[in-house]
Amino acid sequence: MRQWWQSAVFYQIYPRSFKDSNGDGIGDLRGIIEKLDYFVWLGVDALWLSPIFKSPMVDFGYDVSDYTDIDPLFGTLDDFDELLAGAHHRGLKVILDLVPNHTSNQHPWFLESRSSRNNSKRNWYIWRDAKPDSSPPNNWLAYFGGAAWTWDEATGQYYMHNFAPEQPELNYRNPEVKAAVFDEIRFWLRRGLDGFRIDTVDRLMKDPEFRNNPPSNSWKPGDNPSHRLARVYSEKAEGIHRLVAEMGDVFREFDDRVSVGEIDYSTDPRYIASYAGSTEHPEVDLPFNFAPLMLTWDAGVIRRFVDEYDALLPEGGTNYVLGNHDQMRLASRFGEGFRMAAMMLLTLRGTAFIYQGEELGMTDGEVAPEQYRDPQGINLGLSRDPCRTPFHWEGDEKAGFTTGAPWLPVARNVATLNVEAEKDDPDSTLTLYRRLLAMRSAISALTIGGYRSFDAGDGVFAYVRRAEESAFAILLNFTAEMKSISLPQEIMGEIRLTTLLDREGKSVQNHLTLRPYEGAIIEL
Ligand code: GLC
Repeated sequence: MRQWWQSAVFYQIYPRSFKDSNGDGIGDLRGIIEKLDYFVWLGVDALWLSPIFKSPMVDFGYDVSDYTDIDPLFGTLDDFDELLAGAHHRGLKVILDLVPNHTSNQHPWFLESRSSRNNSKRNWYIWRDAKPDSSPPNNWLAYFGGAAWTWDEATGQYYMHNFAPEQPELNYRNPEVKAAVFDEIRFWLRRGLDGFRIDTVDRLMKDPEFRNNPPSNSWKPGDNPSHRLARVYSEKAEGIHRLVAEMGDVFREFDDRVSVGEIDYSTDPRYIASYAGSTEHPEVDLPFNFAPLMLTWDAGVIRRFVDEYDALLPEGGTNYVLGNHDQMRLASRFGEGFRMAAMMLLTLRGTAFIYQGEELGMTDGEVAPEQYRDPQGINLGLSRDPCRTPFHWEGDEKAGFTTGAPWLPVARNVATLNVEAEKDDPDSTLTLYRRLLAMRSAISALTIGGYRSFDAGDGVFAYVRRAEESAFAILLNFTAEMKSISLPQEIMGEIRLTTLLDREGKSVQNHLTLRPYEGAIIEL
């Protein structure tokens, strides 16, 4: 049976930066409630909210101190219920962000665990003795800088953390931890939530022998210093697939829910597909596919990846991600090619994820080092703040986002790139997204049709999406040059949409010219 999420378009909201309703400079749930009609107007199917649970906000909610309550910065459980009901009323699904790999160091579980070596929750986290010379138990490194181990003076042991010291890792080899986290999932699914995006799901299991990680051969200057070591033992260790399958089963206790797993930013289609599991042992419904963010942005390279990946998950699970709250924005990454990238995202087979603001063509904001809030920026200079600057509702200096002082500076190009300015402009990026989304949901070839690529010359990625009643060809020029393309015989028809929104209705036969970075959708 086809599930709603197999072809859905998810819109990722980064709540801190979406819409502030109370003037404290930080976005909140009532702000999202105010804007629910926007999502319907835009044409997406589902919302994913980055973390809103109670948190000291060291990593902006990816450090949870209570999995069953909303942080007061964002609102209350009542606000959440209202948001969910309002979304459902409009036909929108809602998923939240679950962060099961680690808690905040302020979570009651950790407070107990660190209170004494004999505490019943001691073994809920990963505690190890120091080496004889007092150094950490092994060489594992944290993503946010320094060792993945922090010394606890009071109890005389180290605890493990892949991220900040304020994010201690849970011990999933302890069945009590599993049971407790699975109950947190049920709490929200019973409340009517449509699913979760699960943070760093392939990191939940560590090597039971805590062996040293080997050096990496792909690290280069400028990369995160912790990537000097390949994370062979500190994550993805023995038992991980069984655990992810068990977690997936919790979702399958309910009807129509979805589990989306954040896994490594891998370019290996088999690795990505492996977290969908098999028909007998399903794991997560949608293992995030970040490959197009990692691969060389070249038509041939992307085509080879998509051909292989698309064939791997015939039962559903195929998905594409081009941006999120951790990555450079599309328009900053791809320059002029970002509209063509959006056309690709929304016309490939499977589920698509749009990060807030991409539909406006927002670029990374200008955040000076002294304004950094992201711990990875503060510690290592590799700040994720520029992609988290406030959403542009209007063109004023506060972007219509807040009446107070925004928690991160508003990007300089707000005057031209904003909802007000773009919504009625026939050439805007926002109009392009709306047109793409409307076509995608109205035309079954684009929603559920099959995918097959074809040759259209160097620098062009071309494919057909075909369902019983219709077929469409999509041609994407990945280069800064004009491309004059001789088309295979069966590719003839009428242009329905181009990234420049200016050639609809033109008929195409034998030949098509694409301008630099232009994409076109042709009805066959
Ligand atoms: C994920 C999140 C990122 C967070 C990290 C630790 O990668 O996307 O924002 O910092 O996990 O939870």
